Amino acid sequence: MEQERYLFVETHGCQMNDSDSGKITSLLSSYNYRTTTDIGKADIVILNTCSVRDKAEHKVYSYLGTLKPYKERNPNLIIGVGGCVAQQEGERLLKRVPYLDIVFGTHNIHKLPELVSQVRRNKERVSETSFYENNLDIFPDPALNSSSNSLKGLVNVMLGCDNFCSYCIVPYVRGREISRQSSDIIKEIAGLVSRGVKELTLIGQNVNSYGRGLHEGIDFPTLLRKVNGIDGLKRIRFMTSHPKDISDPLISSFGELDKLCEHLHLPVQSGSDSVLKRMNRSYSRDGYLSRGQALKNLSPGMALTSDIIVGFPGETDTDFDDTMELVETVRYDAIFSYKYSPRGETKAAVMPDQVDEHLKNKRLLILQERQREISLERNMEYEGRVVEVLVEGGSDKNHERLSGKTRSFKTVKFDGDQGLIGELVQVRIEKGYVNSLVGKIV
Ligand code: 5AD
Ligand code: SF4
Repeated sequence: MEQERYLFVETHGCQMNDSDSGKITSLLSSYNYRTTTDIGKADIVILNTCSVRDKAEHKVYSYLGTLKPYKERNPNLIIGVGGCVAQQEGERLLKRVPYLDIVFGTHNIHKLPELVSQVRRNKERVSETSFYENNLDIFPDPALNSSSNSLKGLVNVMLGCDNFCSYCIVPYVRGREISRQSSDIIKEIAGLVSRGVKELTLIGQNVNSYGRGLHEGIDFPTLLRKVNGIDGLKRIRFMTSHPKDISDPLISSFGELDKLCEHLHLPVQSGSDSVLKRMNRSYSRDGYLSRGQALKNLSPGMALTSDIIVGFPGETDTDFDDTMELVETVRYDAIFSYKYSPRGETKAAVMPDQVDEHLKNKRLLILQERQREISLERNMEYEGRVVEVLVEGGSDKNHERLSGKTRSFKTVKFDGDQGLIGELVQVRIEKGYVNSLVGKIV
């Protein structure tokens, strides 16, 4: 029997990268590579990179720097870089890092075993970053999703993005939108559920445009309906949604599908119409607000979260005030907020009136402070209510202390037996904090 070898995977970035790292792990496990959390033991180290914000390339080079001593100790160690920075940088990474063996782009994960054997056999260094437009082969075999979390699964429904928001690098590094056949999606989910997964998140850069280009004539609400019919599955979530594609049938899905959880991540990015226009977001502030309100009308327990960028080129004090006002109106449960960061190739990077870094910091602070208060208020509204929680495991080091999520995606901490992990329990909320709720099982 072939000798067992070890794989170490370092993942940066979003859920798409988490899911891609899962695919990498499964693919290589069929070639006898087991995962390890000890880099020193690894035969292959893969770095899965993100370039959405900040000094992405810099982070990659500095992480690769930490791998140099391992390569010196073990010249047979194979080091690979995948994800968005790999797609963007390609050969340049190989040139700059002499001990790097493999660069593989976002459409080339399925080629990784072949690339590894090329390195082993021919002692050559390889870079593969081609895009395969309209080729369903880039989706993995549904049997390969061996989610590392036994309760919660991530399943890819589409890849890429055609929206070209002017600040965003994703369309350049993830290619054009391509949807996956629903039969494969259902097969993959059924496999996860048979292995104990209770909660499923359907992921894609832009899930609402699911189905475009597929011959089977399906849209996202129809896919949700199919997934809702899978026996044994308890909860469904999805992300990310683009506000311009939130259709009426999708909104009604929240009232109709019992497994669909009452939480929507609906990134607004800015509350100013002029900024939204320059961002190329294709919706107005009022359009967004009316979609949000329609969702809240459906269910009072509906949680809304968002991404917000401050300091987009040309953002004036008035534009920023519009964002703050929108935040007051919507009262998000939580937001992810970012300072605008120029990305190569994107339109916004060369727009005039780039905002001063100090001003970006100031606006970010104001936004985050106000949102903390709102999140706290939203969470305090739960006090006295009884909510369903999927028990995920011990919180802290205290074994009697459990934690889990409500359907509205709130973290709840409470005392209980470890045997409850994986169960849905009812918890009465006693106290709401900024980032979590604390309660007692009823
Ligand atoms: N600068 C700052 N934030 C960005 N995002 C995407 N691109 C940029 C950028 N260039 C944010 C958006 C998006 C989230 C995933 O990252 O808010 O929704
Ligand atoms: Fe980026 Fe916009 Fe596409 Fe989201 S919808 S991935 S922000 S281009």
